[in-house]
Amino acid sequence: MLKNALPKIITELPGPKSKEIISKRNDAIPSSVACATPCVIDKAEGCMIQDVDGNIFMDWVAGIGVMNIGHSNPEIIEAVKKQTDRYFHPQINTFHYSEYVDLAAKLNSIVPGDFKKRTCFFNSGAEANDNAIKIARKYTKKTDIIAFSGGFHGRTFMTMTLTSGNIYKAAFGPMIPGVHRAEFPNEYRTNSNIKPEELVDYYIDKLEYMFVDYVSPDNVAAIILEPLQGEAGFVEPPIDYIVKLRAICDKYNILLIADEVQTGYCRTGRMFATEYWADKGVYADIVVSAKSLAAGLPLSAVTAREEIMESLAVGEIGGTYGGNAVACASALKVIEIMERDNYAQKAMAIGEQAKKFFADWYNKYEAIGTYRIKGAMLSIEFVKDRATKEPDPEMASKVLKGCKEKGLVIKNAGSYHQIIRILMPLITNEEQLNAGMNILEDVIKSCSK
Ligand SMILES: Cc1ncc(COP(=O)(O)O)c(C=O)c1O
Repeated sequence: MLKNALPKIITELPGPKSKEIISKRNDAIPSSVACATPCVIDKAEGCMIQDVDGNIFMDWVAGIGVMNIGHSNPEIIEAVKKQTDRYFHPQINTFHYSEYVDLAAKLNSIVPGDFKKRTCFFNSGAEANDNAIKIARKYTKKTDIIAFSGGFHGRTFMTMTLTSGNIYKAAFGPMIPGVHRAEFPNEYRTNSNIKPEELVDYYIDKLEYMFVDYVSPDNVAAIILEPLQGEAGFVEPPIDYIVKLRAICDKYNILLIADEVQTGYCRTGRMFATEYWADKGVYADIVVSAKSLAAGLPLSAVTAREEIMESLAVGEIGGTYGGNAVACASALKVIEIMERDNYAQKAMAIGEQAKKFFADWYNKYEAIGTYRIKGAMLSIEFVKDRATKEPDPEMASKVLKGCKEKGLVIKNAGSYHQIIRILMPLITNEEQLNAGMNILEDVIKSCSK
Protein backbone atom coordinates (compact mmCIF):
# COMPACT_ATOMS: atom_id res chain seq x y z
CA MET A 1 0.00 0.00 0.00
CA LEU A 2 1.33 3.41 -1.00
CA LYS A 3 0.22 4.80 2.38
CA ASN A 4 2.82 2.73 4.23
CA ALA A 5 5.56 2.88 1.58
CA LEU A 6 9.00 4.45 1.90
CA PRO A 7 10.67 6.73 -0.67
CA LYS A 8 11.96 4.95 -3.77
CA ILE A 9 13.37 6.69 -6.82
CA ILE A 10 13.63 4.36 -9.83
CA THR A 11 14.20 6.76 -12.75
CA GLU A 12 16.23 9.85 -13.34
CA LEU A 13 14.22 12.92 -12.26
CA PRO A 14 12.02 13.89 -13.88
CA GLY A 15 11.19 10.48 -15.33
CA PRO A 16 10.21 10.20 -19.03
CA LYS A 17 6.42 10.48 -18.54
CA SER A 18 6.79 13.36 -16.09
CA LYS A 19 9.16 15.10 -18.51
CA GLU A 20 6.52 15.12 -21.22
CA ILE A 21 3.88 16.72 -18.99
CA ILE A 22 6.37 19.19 -17.47
CA SER A 23 7.36 20.37 -20.94
CA LYS A 24 3.65 20.94 -21.74
CA ARG A 25 3.33 22.78 -18.42
CA ASN A 26 6.28 25.00 -19.30
CA ASP A 27 4.41 26.08 -22.39
CA ALA A 28 0.98 26.51 -20.84
CA ILE A 29 1.33 28.15 -17.45
CA PRO A 30 3.28 31.17 -16.20
CA SER A 31 6.87 30.40 -15.24
CA SER A 32 6.23 32.43 -12.08
CA VAL A 33 4.02 29.54 -10.95
CA ALA A 34 7.10 27.55 -10.06
CA CYS A 35 7.28 23.91 -8.97
CA ALA A 36 9.96 22.57 -6.64
CA THR A 37 9.70 18.84 -7.33
CA PRO A 38 10.58 17.34 -10.75
CA CYS A 39 7.77 14.83 -10.99
CA VAL A 40 4.12 14.64 -12.02
CA ILE A 41 1.83 13.01 -9.50
CA ASP A 42 -0.16 9.89 -10.25
CA LYS A 43 -1.60 9.25 -6.78
CA ALA A 44 -1.16 10.19 -3.13
CA GLU A 45 -1.90 8.37 0.12
CA GLY A 46 -1.02 9.32 3.67
CA CYS A 47 2.33 11.08 3.46
CA MET A 48 3.39 9.36 0.24
CA ILE A 49 3.17 10.43 -3.41
CA GLN A 50 3.64 8.21 -6.45
CA ASP A 51 4.55 9.85 -9.72
CA VAL A 52 3.55 8.83 -13.23
CA ASP A 53 6.91 7.08 -13.68
CA GLY A 54 6.54 4.94 -10.56
CA ASN A 55 8.85 6.98 -8.29
CA ILE A 56 7.71 7.21 -4.69
CA PHE A 57 8.24 10.41 -2.72
CA MET A 58 7.65 11.22 0.91
CA ASP A 59 5.63 14.44 1.02
CA TRP A 60 6.73 16.41 4.05
CA VAL A 61 5.29 19.63 2.67
CA ALA A 62 1.71 18.32 2.64
CA GLY A 63 0.28 20.97 0.33
CA ILE A 64 2.12 23.58 2.46
CA GLY A 65 0.44 22.50 5.66
CA VAL A 66 -2.90 21.60 4.06
CA MET A 67 -2.89 17.82 4.39
CA ASN A 68 -2.43 17.40 8.16
CA ILE A 69 -4.99 14.60 7.92
CA GLY A 70 -2.96 12.86 5.19
CA HIS A 71 -3.62 12.40 1.48
CA SER A 72 -6.67 10.42 0.33
CA ASN A 73 -8.10 9.66 3.76
CA PRO A 74 -10.90 7.16 2.95
CA GLU A 75 -13.36 8.71 5.42
CA ILE A 76 -12.87 12.15 3.87
CA ILE A 77 -13.33 10.72 0.39
CA GLU A 78 -16.56 9.09 1.51
CA ALA A 79 -17.85 12.29 3.16
CA VAL A 80 -17.08 14.30 0.02
CA LYS A 81 -18.70 11.72 -2.27
CA LYS A 82 -21.79 11.60 -0.08
CA GLN A 83 -22.05 15.38 -0.25
CA THR A 84 -21.56 15.55 -4.01
CA ASP A 85 -24.41 13.04 -4.42
CA ARG A 86 -26.74 15.54 -2.71
CA TYR A 87 -25.53 19.01 -3.80
CA PHE A 88 -22.30 20.95 -4.38
CA HIS A 89 -23.12 24.57 -3.86
CA PRO A 90 -26.46 25.98 -2.74
CA GLN A 91 -24.71 29.33 -1.94
CA ILE A 92 -25.20 30.59 1.59
CA ASN A 93 -26.93 33.87 0.64
CA THR A 94 -29.39 31.98 -1.51
CA PHE A 95 -30.26 28.85 0.51
CA HIS A 96 -29.65 27.60 4.03
CA TYR A 97 -27.67 24.35 4.22
CA SER A 98 -26.63 22.43 7.28
CA GLU A 99 -22.96 21.81 6.39
CA TYR A 100 -22.16 25.55 6.64
CA VAL A 101 -24.18 25.91 9.84
CA ASP A 102 -22.77 22.79 11.53
CA LEU A 103 -19.20 23.71 10.68
CA ALA A 104 -19.60 27.28 11.93
CA ALA A 105 -21.13 26.00 15.19
CA LYS A 106 -18.28 23.50 15.57
CA LEU A 107 -15.60 26.16 15.06
CA ASN A 108 -17.39 28.46 17.50
CA SER A 109 -17.09 25.73 20.10
CA ILE A 110 -13.47 24.66 19.48
CA VAL A 111 -11.72 27.96 18.74
CA PRO A 112 -10.26 29.03 22.10
CA GLY A 113 -12.30 31.47 24.19
CA ASP A 114 -15.19 30.83 26.55
CA PHE A 115 -17.33 33.52 24.96
CA LYS A 116 -19.94 33.64 22.24
CA LYS A 117 -18.48 33.54 18.73
CA ARG A 118 -19.62 33.50 15.14
CA THR A 119 -17.87 32.07 12.09
CA CYS A 120 -18.10 32.83 8.39
CA PHE A 121 -16.30 31.13 5.54
CA PHE A 122 -14.14 32.15 2.61
CA ASN A 123 -11.92 30.34 0.10
CA SER A 124 -8.29 31.01 0.99
CA GLY A 125 -6.18 32.11 3.91
CA ALA A 126 -5.55 35.46 2.26
CA GLU A 127 -9.23 36.10 1.63
CA ALA A 128 -10.07 35.25 5.25
CA ASN A 129 -7.32 37.55 6.58
CA ASP A 130 -8.53 40.30 4.28
CA ASN A 131 -12.02 39.94 5.74
CA ALA A 132 -10.70 39.80 9.30
CA ILE A 133 -9.22 43.25 8.70
CA LYS A 134 -12.51 44.54 7.27
CA ILE A 135 -14.36 43.19 10.30
CA ALA A 136 -11.86 44.76 12.73
CA ARG A 137 -12.15 48.13 10.99
CA LYS A 138 -15.93 48.05 11.02
CA TYR A 139 -16.19 47.04 14.68
CA THR A 140 -13.59 49.43 16.06
CA LYS A 141 -14.37 52.26 13.65
CA LYS A 142 -10.60 52.65 13.41
CA THR A 143 -8.42 52.28 10.34
CA ASP A 144 -4.84 51.26 10.99
CA ILE A 145 -3.32 47.81 11.41
CA ILE A 146 -0.08 46.62 12.96
CA ALA A 147 1.59 43.58 11.42
CA PHE A 148 5.01 42.06 12.11
CA SER A 149 8.39 41.67 10.50
CA GLY A 150 8.69 38.12 9.14
CA GLY A 151 4.90 37.76 8.98
CA PHE A 152 3.06 36.18 6.08
CA HIS A 153 -0.66 36.69 5.61
CA GLY A 154 -1.28 36.17 1.89
CA ARG A 155 -1.08 37.80 -1.51
CA THR A 156 -4.26 39.90 -1.96
CA PHE A 157 -3.56 43.62 -1.82
CA MET A 158 -4.39 43.97 1.87
CA THR A 159 -2.66 40.76 2.91
CA MET A 160 0.35 41.47 0.69
CA THR A 161 0.59 44.78 2.53
CA LEU A 162 0.43 42.96 5.86
CA THR A 163 3.00 40.43 4.68
CA SER A 164 6.64 41.20 5.30
CA GLY A 165 9.31 40.61 2.66
CA ASN A 166 10.21 42.32 -0.59
CA ILE A 167 9.99 39.13 -2.59
CA TYR A 168 6.20 39.24 -2.32
CA LYS A 169 5.59 42.93 -2.82
CA ALA A 170 8.44 44.99 -4.25
CA ALA A 171 7.01 44.85 -7.77
CA PHE A 172 3.45 45.74 -6.86
CA GLY A 173 3.42 49.00 -4.92
CA PRO A 174 2.04 51.21 -3.66
CA MET A 175 0.75 49.11 -0.78
CA ILE A 176 -2.42 49.94 1.18
CA PRO A 177 -1.95 52.86 3.57
CA GLY A 178 -2.42 52.51 7.32
CA VAL A 179 -0.40 49.33 7.85
CA HIS A 180 2.53 49.60 10.28
CA ARG A 181 5.26 47.08 10.93
CA ALA A 182 6.32 46.03 14.41
CA GLU A 183 9.42 43.98 15.06
CA PHE A 184 8.67 40.34 15.76
CA PRO A 185 10.41 38.93 18.85
CA ASN A 186 12.63 36.44 17.07
CA GLU A 187 14.92 35.39 19.89
CA TYR A 188 17.55 33.75 17.70
CA ARG A 189 17.87 36.82 15.48
CA THR A 190 17.87 39.37 18.32
CA ASN A 191 21.02 41.33 19.01
CA SER A 192 23.05 39.29 21.50
CA ASN A 193 23.41 42.33 23.79
CA ILE A 194 19.80 41.76 24.79
CA LYS A 195 19.72 39.15 27.54
CA PRO A 196 17.03 36.43 27.15
CA GLU A 197 15.20 37.70 30.26
CA GLU A 198 15.04 41.20 28.72
CA LEU A 199 13.73 40.04 25.36
CA VAL A 200 10.00 40.41 25.99
CA ASP A 201 10.24 43.93 27.41
CA TYR A 202 12.68 44.93 24.69
CA TYR A 203 10.15 44.11 21.98
CA ILE A 204 7.14 45.36 23.94
CA ASP A 205 8.94 48.70 24.45
CA LYS A 206 9.57 48.87 20.71
CA LEU A 207 5.90 48.26 20.04
CA GLU A 208 4.82 50.88 22.57
CA TYR A 209 7.24 53.32 20.97
CA MET A 210 5.36 52.94 17.69
CA PHE A 211 2.45 54.65 19.46
CA VAL A 212 4.72 57.56 20.33
CA ASP A 213 6.36 58.00 16.99
CA TYR A 214 4.42 56.40 14.10
CA VAL A 215 0.74 55.87 14.79
CA SER A 216 -1.70 56.84 17.50
CA PRO A 217 -3.24 53.80 19.21
CA ASP A 218 -6.55 55.65 18.79
CA ASN A 219 -6.23 54.92 15.08
CA VAL A 220 -5.22 51.26 15.38
CA ALA A 221 -8.03 48.79 14.72
CA ALA A 222 -6.05 45.56 15.06
CA ILE A 223 -2.76 43.84 15.60
CA ILE A 224 -2.38 40.72 13.48
CA LEU A 225 0.16 37.98 14.00
CA GLU A 226 0.80 34.29 13.48
CA PRO A 227 1.11 32.30 16.73
CA LEU A 228 4.18 30.77 15.09
CA GLN A 229 5.45 32.51 11.99
CA GLY A 230 5.21 30.03 9.12
CA GLU A 231 7.09 31.47 6.16
CA ALA A 232 9.67 32.93 8.57
CA GLY A 233 10.64 29.39 9.58
CA PHE A 234 8.33 28.51 12.50
CA VAL A 235 9.45 31.26 14.83
CA GLU A 236 7.41 31.42 18.03
CA PRO A 237 7.17 34.57 20.15
CA PRO A 238 7.68 34.08 23.89
CA ILE A 239 4.32 33.47 25.56
CA ASP A 240 4.95 36.40 27.92
CA TYR A 241 5.16 38.63 24.86
CA ILE A 242 1.67 37.47 23.86
CA VAL A 243 0.37 38.16 27.38
CA LYS A 244 1.74 41.71 27.22
CA LEU A 245 0.53 42.19 23.66
CA ARG A 246 -2.99 41.29 24.79
CA ALA A 247 -2.72 43.82 27.62
CA ILE A 248 -1.70 46.52 25.13
CA CYS A 249 -4.67 45.62 22.91
CA ASP A 250 -7.01 45.87 25.92
CA LYS A 251 -5.51 49.16 27.01
CA TYR A 252 -6.03 50.83 23.64
CA ASN A 253 -9.18 49.01 22.38
CA ILE A 254 -7.25 47.27 19.66
CA LEU A 255 -8.39 43.86 18.39
CA LEU A 256 -5.94 40.96 18.42
CA ILE A 257 -6.14 38.81 15.28
CA ALA A 258 -4.47 35.39 15.29
CA ASP A 259 -3.61 34.13 11.82
CA GLU A 260 -3.80 30.36 12.39
CA VAL A 261 -3.76 29.57 8.69
CA GLN A 262 -0.57 27.48 8.96
CA THR A 263 -0.66 26.61 12.68
CA GLY A 264 -4.27 25.41 12.89
CA TYR A 265 -5.78 21.93 12.94
CA CYS A 266 -3.39 20.07 15.22
CA ARG A 267 -0.13 21.08 13.53
CA THR A 268 1.44 22.42 16.72
CA GLY A 269 0.20 19.67 19.05
CA ARG A 270 -3.09 21.40 19.89
CA MET A 271 -6.14 21.87 17.65
CA PHE A 272 -5.18 25.57 17.51
CA ALA A 273 -1.86 27.11 18.49
CA THR A 274 -3.81 29.81 20.32
CA GLU A 275 -4.69 27.09 22.86
CA TYR A 276 -1.16 27.69 24.19
CA TRP A 277 -2.23 31.35 24.65
CA ALA A 278 -5.41 30.19 26.39
CA ASP A 279 -3.24 28.32 28.94
CA LYS A 280 -2.20 31.83 30.04
CA GLY A 281 -5.72 33.23 29.88
CA VAL A 282 -5.09 35.04 26.59
CA TYR A 283 -7.54 34.87 23.67
CA ALA A 284 -7.56 36.39 20.24
CA ASP A 285 -10.61 38.44 19.30
CA ILE A 286 -10.54 37.05 15.77
CA VAL A 287 -9.02 33.72 14.70
CA VAL A 288 -8.39 33.05 11.03
CA SER A 289 -7.94 29.48 9.84
CA ALA A 290 -7.66 27.73 6.48
CA LYS A 291 -5.22 25.22 4.96
CA SER A 292 -5.79 21.89 6.80
CA LEU A 293 -9.40 22.76 7.63
CA ALA A 294 -10.91 20.96 4.64
CA ALA A 295 -8.18 18.45 3.67
CA GLY A 296 -7.32 20.08 0.37
CA LEU A 297 -10.64 21.64 -0.64
CA PRO A 298 -10.51 25.46 -0.67
CA LEU A 299 -12.02 26.71 2.56
CA SER A 300 -11.06 29.31 5.14
CA ALA A 301 -12.77 30.60 8.24
CA VAL A 302 -12.98 33.76 10.28
CA THR A 303 -14.14 33.12 13.84
CA ALA A 304 -14.71 36.17 16.01
CA ARG A 305 -16.38 37.29 19.21
CA GLU A 306 -20.08 37.60 18.53
CA GLU A 307 -20.29 41.34 19.13
CA ILE A 308 -17.45 41.95 16.68
CA MET A 309 -19.00 39.86 13.92
CA GLU A 310 -22.43 41.33 14.58
CA SER A 311 -21.17 44.86 13.89
CA LEU A 312 -21.38 44.08 10.16
CA ALA A 313 -24.39 44.84 8.00
CA VAL A 314 -25.86 42.56 5.34
CA GLY A 315 -23.71 42.49 2.22
CA GLU A 316 -20.56 43.85 3.83
CA ILE A 317 -18.74 40.51 3.77
CA GLY A 318 -19.19 37.39 1.70
CA GLY A 319 -18.50 35.97 -1.72
CA THR A 320 -19.90 33.49 -4.20
CA TYR A 321 -18.07 30.37 -3.11
CA GLY A 322 -17.30 30.94 0.58
CA GLY A 323 -18.43 27.95 2.64
CA ASN A 324 -19.04 25.68 -0.34
CA ALA A 325 -21.02 22.65 0.88
CA VAL A 326 -18.53 20.03 -0.32
CA ALA A 327 -15.63 21.82 1.41
CA CYS A 328 -17.71 22.19 4.60
CA ALA A 329 -18.62 18.48 4.55
CA SER A 330 -14.94 17.65 4.19
CA ALA A 331 -14.03 20.00 7.06
CA LEU A 332 -16.66 18.52 9.38
CA LYS A 333 -15.15 15.09 8.78
CA VAL A 334 -11.58 16.42 9.23
CA ILE A 335 -12.41 17.81 12.66
CA GLU A 336 -14.34 14.69 13.65
CA ILE A 337 -11.36 12.47 12.77
CA MET A 338 -8.82 14.79 14.38
CA GLU A 339 -10.76 14.82 17.65
CA ARG A 340 -11.58 11.10 17.60
CA ASP A 341 -8.06 9.91 16.72
CA ASN A 342 -6.24 12.59 18.72
CA TYR A 343 -4.23 14.16 15.91
CA ALA A 344 -2.89 16.73 18.35
CA GLN A 345 -1.18 13.89 20.19
CA LYS A 346 0.16 12.51 16.90
CA ALA A 347 1.77 15.91 16.24
CA MET A 348 3.28 15.94 19.74
CA ALA A 349 4.71 12.43 19.23
CA ILE A 350 6.28 13.48 15.91
CA GLY A 351 7.80 16.51 17.64
CA GLU A 352 9.26 14.38 20.43
CA GLN A 353 10.85 11.99 17.94
CA ALA A 354 12.15 14.88 15.83
CA LYS A 355 13.75 16.43 18.90
CA LYS A 356 15.97 13.40 19.38
CA PHE A 357 17.21 13.65 15.80
CA PHE A 358 17.62 17.44 15.74
CA ALA A 359 19.43 17.61 19.09
CA ASP A 360 21.89 14.97 17.92
CA TRP A 361 22.46 16.74 14.59
CA TYR A 362 22.97 20.07 16.31
CA ASN A 363 25.89 18.51 18.17
CA LYS A 364 27.33 17.03 15.00
CA TYR A 365 26.81 19.64 12.27
CA GLU A 366 28.10 23.19 12.71
CA ALA A 367 25.96 24.38 9.80
CA ILE A 368 22.88 24.10 12.00
CA GLY A 369 22.49 27.45 13.72
CA THR A 370 19.30 26.51 15.52
CA TYR A 371 16.27 24.30 15.17
CA ARG A 372 12.65 24.78 16.12
CA ILE A 373 10.01 22.25 17.11
CA LYS A 374 6.41 22.87 18.09
CA GLY A 375 4.37 19.71 17.74
CA ALA A 376 4.93 18.68 14.14
CA MET A 377 6.06 22.12 12.99
CA LEU A 378 9.76 21.44 12.48
CA SER A 379 12.51 23.64 11.08
CA ILE A 380 16.27 23.86 10.89
CA GLU A 381 18.10 27.15 10.32
CA PHE A 382 21.45 26.98 8.56
CA VAL A 383 24.26 29.45 9.20
CA LYS A 384 27.74 29.96 7.79
CA ASP A 385 29.08 30.55 11.29
CA ARG A 386 27.39 29.86 14.59
CA ALA A 387 28.98 32.92 16.20
CA THR A 388 27.97 35.47 13.57
CA LYS A 389 24.74 33.62 12.66
CA GLU A 390 25.27 34.60 9.04
CA PRO A 391 22.40 32.92 7.16
CA ASP A 392 23.38 30.11 4.80
CA PRO A 393 20.75 29.87 2.05
CA GLU A 394 23.11 27.86 -0.18
CA MET A 395 23.27 25.12 2.44
CA ALA A 396 19.47 25.08 2.80
CA SER A 397 19.06 24.88 -0.95
CA LYS A 398 21.62 22.04 -1.25
CA VAL A 399 19.80 20.14 1.48
CA LEU A 400 16.44 20.56 -0.26
CA LYS A 401 17.91 19.36 -3.54
CA GLY A 402 19.72 16.41 -1.97
CA CYS A 403 16.58 15.28 -0.15
CA LYS A 404 14.49 15.56 -3.29
CA GLU A 405 16.92 13.33 -5.20
CA LYS A 406 16.39 10.69 -2.51
CA GLY A 407 12.60 11.06 -2.56
CA LEU A 408 12.06 13.31 0.46
CA VAL A 409 10.21 16.55 -0.25
CA ILE A 410 10.61 19.39 2.26
CA LYS A 411 10.41 23.17 1.90
CA ASN A 412 12.46 26.27 2.50
CA ALA A 413 11.58 29.26 4.68
CA GLY A 414 13.12 32.36 6.24
CA SER A 415 13.88 35.84 4.92
CA TYR A 416 17.05 34.58 3.27
CA HIS A 417 15.69 31.09 2.47
CA GLN A 418 18.23 29.83 4.99
CA ILE A 419 15.73 27.57 6.76
CA ILE A 420 14.27 24.19 5.88
CA ARG A 421 10.82 23.41 7.23
CA ILE A 422 8.88 20.22 7.57
CA LEU A 423 5.08 19.98 7.61
CA MET A 424 4.50 16.25 7.29
CA PRO A 425 0.99 14.78 7.36
CA LEU A 426 0.35 13.87 10.98
CA ILE A 427 -0.30 10.23 10.09
CA THR A 428 3.36 9.74 9.11
CA ASN A 429 4.20 6.44 10.86
CA GLU A 430 7.31 5.71 12.90
CA GLU A 431 9.08 3.77 10.15
CA GLN A 432 8.42 6.60 7.70
CA LEU A 433 9.52 9.20 10.22
CA ASN A 434 12.80 7.40 10.80
CA ALA A 435 13.32 6.87 7.07
CA GLY A 436 12.73 10.55 6.30
CA MET A 437 14.97 11.70 9.14
CA ASN A 438 17.72 9.32 7.99
CA ILE A 439 17.57 10.75 4.48
CA LEU A 440 17.70 14.27 5.90
CA GLU A 441 20.71 13.46 8.06
CA ASP A 442 22.57 11.75 5.19
CA VAL A 443 22.06 14.85 3.08
CA ILE A 444 23.01 17.35 5.83
CA LYS A 445 26.10 15.25 6.49
CA SER A 446 27.18 15.16 2.85
CA CYS A 447 26.48 18.89 2.41
CA SER A 448 28.47 19.68 5.57
CA LYS A 449 31.72 18.32 4.10
C1 LIG B 1 0.09 32.19 8.14
C2 LIG B 1 -0.49 32.29 6.76
N1 LIG B 1 -1.46 33.18 6.52
C3 LIG B 1 -2.02 33.28 5.32
C4 LIG B 1 -1.62 32.52 4.27
C5 LIG B 1 -2.25 32.69 2.93
O1 LIG B 1 -3.09 31.60 2.68
P1 LIG B 1 -3.56 31.29 1.19
O2 LIG B 1 -2.35 30.87 0.44
O3 LIG B 1 -4.57 30.18 1.35
O4 LIG B 1 -4.17 32.53 0.66
C6 LIG B 1 -0.60 31.56 4.45
C7 LIG B 1 -0.14 30.74 3.34
O5 LIG B 1 0.89 30.12 3.36
C8 LIG B 1 -0.03 31.45 5.74
O6 LIG B 1 0.94 30.58 5.99
